[in-house]
Amino acid sequence: MACFFRRRIAAKLGKTLRHSEEVFIPAVTAVPVMKKQQTADFKLSISTLRVNGILPSSGDIQLQTENLACTLKQDSVVEEISAGRGVINFKVNRKFLAQKLLEPFGKGEDDKFGLNSELFLSLKRGTTLVEYSSPNIAKKFHAGHLRSTVIGNFIANLKQSLGNNVIRMNYLGDWGMQFGLLGAGFGQFGCLEKLKQNPLQHLFEVYVQVNKEAEHSEDIKQAAREFFRQLEQHESQAVSLWKQFREITVREYQRVYQRLGIHFDVYSGESFHQDQAQEVLQQLQSRGLLKTSEKGTGVVDLSLDGDMSNVCTVLRSDGTTLYITRDIAAAINRKEMYNFDEMIYVTDKSQENHFSQLFQILLSMGHSWAQRCRHVSFGLVQGMKTRTGEVVFLEDVLDEARARMLHNMSQSSTTKTMDNPEDTAEKVGISALIIQDFKGPLQSDYKFDWDQMLQAQGDTGVFLQYTHARLCSLIKRNEGVEAATFDPSLLHEQTSVSILQHLLRYDEVLYQSAQDLQPKHLINFLLKLCHLIASAHRELPVKGSPQGVAQARLRLFSGARSVLASGMRILGIAPVAKM
Ligand code: ARG
Repeated sequence: MACFFRRRIAAKLGKTLRHSEEVFIPAVTAVPVMKKQQTADFKLSISTLRVNGILPSSGDIQLQTENLACTLKQDSVVEEISAGRGVINFKVNRKFLAQKLLEPFGKGEDDKFGLNSELFLSLKRGTTLVEYSSPNIAKKFHAGHLRSTVIGNFIANLKQSLGNNVIRMNYLGDWGMQFGLLGAGFGQFGCLEKLKQNPLQHLFEVYVQVNKEAEHSEDIKQAAREFFRQLEQHESQAVSLWKQFREITVREYQRVYQRLGIHFDVYSGESFHQDQAQEVLQQLQSRGLLKTSEKGTGVVDLSLDGDMSNVCTVLRSDGTTLYITRDIAAAINRKEMYNFDEMIYVTDKSQENHFSQLFQILLSMGHSWAQRCRHVSFGLVQGMKTRTGEVVFLEDVLDEARARMLHNMSQSSTTKTMDNPEDTAEKVGISALIIQDFKGPLQSDYKFDWDQMLQAQGDTGVFLQYTHARLCSLIKRNEGVEAATFDPSLLHEQTSVSILQHLLRYDEVLYQSAQDLQPKHLINFLLKLCHLIASAHRELPVKGSPQGVAQARLRLFSGARSVLASGMRILGIAPVAKM
């Protein structure tokens, strides 16, 4: 394990520099794998030691590096120590490297690989509430909702893998004037039969139609206001229709999320916090934070100088609350209900200001836990379309991904031997969607491109799945060859060593993703792993090799497969065994 080596090196440093070894652990990093042969597996940056005061920050850094490298003693595990430019390089005994890294895979500890690293010891664990997806009833499920869904799921998976108690929450847009329109419109254009058959589509149709109608009909507008008033007054008929819309929508979404392998622990929504929003207004009032603007609206002054140059509206002049008011109430309520240690909201970047205002208001109300609330924002997706046009429903994107993938697979002979090619096409298609979305920094916008994301060769989700399936088939073909033990000295070729060196980095990569919540570190790691595995398939045959060599190589392949699969699962991708 990487942690074994890092600790060993840290202990060496601790002894020589008379410090606790713990301080050196984060300073010792695995060296990125290059094509050419490498002399180092780990490095220590001297400037880090100067920054944290372990070495004097004056004097010639190169001299310091060389002196330290000379004083450190090699041993049977760390067999070479040399000075580079401002870094000390450590080379680990090759046999030991293979032994330690691949040992856990024979013991059924596959899933913990990388996650039980000492890098995570200092990480605080607790309850993390992740709110994601959060579509609006009767409206479009747009690309932003899809991004929020997959990114939120990744964050929740990652937090969970690192030992947190995770609450996955979907906060539906299930309140507001749109329900007035929908309620009024349903009387005219709605049909209960259609609602049961195709709920999302029917609600959307009614909503579009009633909006059109409302453009030139005062009557409809009046009916909408009246319906919403009834809802706010909890009048039973209105509430019962609204409930039906909501329940049917949730059921339908659950079915579609299931296709994505995503679930939620809680389906909350804006409607839950309607009454609490009134309490929030009272609290703001009693703290003297609620001001009245010239327009007669209720605002909170967020300007530094208290001159109302930056205000946030929390109350309309007609006495109704807003999106932000409900969010303040929702946050306070979640803290009371779940007592989370941190809360993460995932939406597109157009809501950055909204969340920064939300956190500021919560803080000004004395809720210091708002410091541990975080908004993870992401860029826009351009051109997400299906063959039939603009995307309105999540299901359309999933269907299209599956159909396109099935078409691409139809040429392959493996497809003919599959029990359920649709299921494989679905999983691989979804991986393609996810990887395309996660490859860059989340903040960047990107162009949605079916052809590019579904390529088998490029850096795509298809390539990850293909590599995984190929490893599964290699392992299956050689059933009975792998043994409980293996001879690590037989993994001496550079191709094997590169894979081992790369696996050493897994914990650092997870650590990086855990810090900034960006999936790209993990994706790049897995893609690189897949490229290294491709070379290994060519250069390290199992079949036809002497038994010992075959066993050792098989152990390497199954270790790599296991890390690939667990990384994919964190990303929210279900690895396939055949494709
Ligand atoms: N329903 C909102 C939308 O579609 C997203 C909700 C985000 N979460 C929140 N707590 N405001 O834009």
